[in-house]
Amino acid sequence: MSQQTSGKFITLEGGEGVGKSTNLRFITEWLERQGIEFVQTREPGGTPLAEQLRTLLLEKREESVDPTAELLMVFAARAQHLNQVIKPALADGKWVICDRFTDATYAYQGGGRGLDRAMIGELEQLVQGDLRPDRVLLLDLDPKIGLQRAAATGEADRFESEQAAFFRKVRAAYRARAEAAPDRYALIDASLPLQDVQAHLARELEAIAGDQ
Ligand code: TMP
Repeated sequence: MSQQTSGKFITLEGGEGVGKSTNLRFITEWLERQGIEFVQTREPGGTPLAEQLRTLLLEKREESVDPTAELLMVFAARAQHLNQVIKPALADGKWVICDRFTDATYAYQGGGRGLDRAMIGELEQLVQGDLRPDRVLLLDLDPKIGLQRAAATGEADRFESEQAAFFRKVRAAYRARAEAAPDRYALIDASLPLQDVQAHLARELEAIAGDQ
């Protein structure tokens, strides 16, 4: 919740190949047309240090990565990003459009890797305090389709190299979070034609803007 600030904190989430990049462009163009000041950023990443952590997280390596080490790196990057970029922008009254945030941790490290959700919740509280996205836009798609789309866009990173079962768990974890809190999540059917997905996104953005 960013009640103590005047900007809106919006995150875009979804599995691999759901169309985040195309739809992010749609969102930022929509904001530009409305004259809303915003910062576009991403996780893991968004500051030089957090981008270095991103590289460490995504690159494929011989050594198998301990899931708790992965979790701590994700939150280390988040602490830096939140304090250097997200909070100052919100305090300045800007909207923050973030490509993935803590819902991705619940989906990938919680769902995919099977880490305890309560442990993730403790780190979330430690790093974020009460700050949560005002609205999470979740692009939902069968990973069978998503992975085919993602395969067409270049070499797979460490996450994209996971097996189909991993991505089914990621999707299920995302959906469970959206279904448990429909007031904070927009569950968007990303299998629909792009113009329908974007019509849904526009309705969401209008509702958020109207909420100011
Ligand atoms: P992307 O920006 O291309 O979606 O890649 C980021 C990858 O990092 C993606 O595979 C999901 C993963 N990730 C996590 O596992 N946990 C997290 O908390 C975040 C933000 C991303």
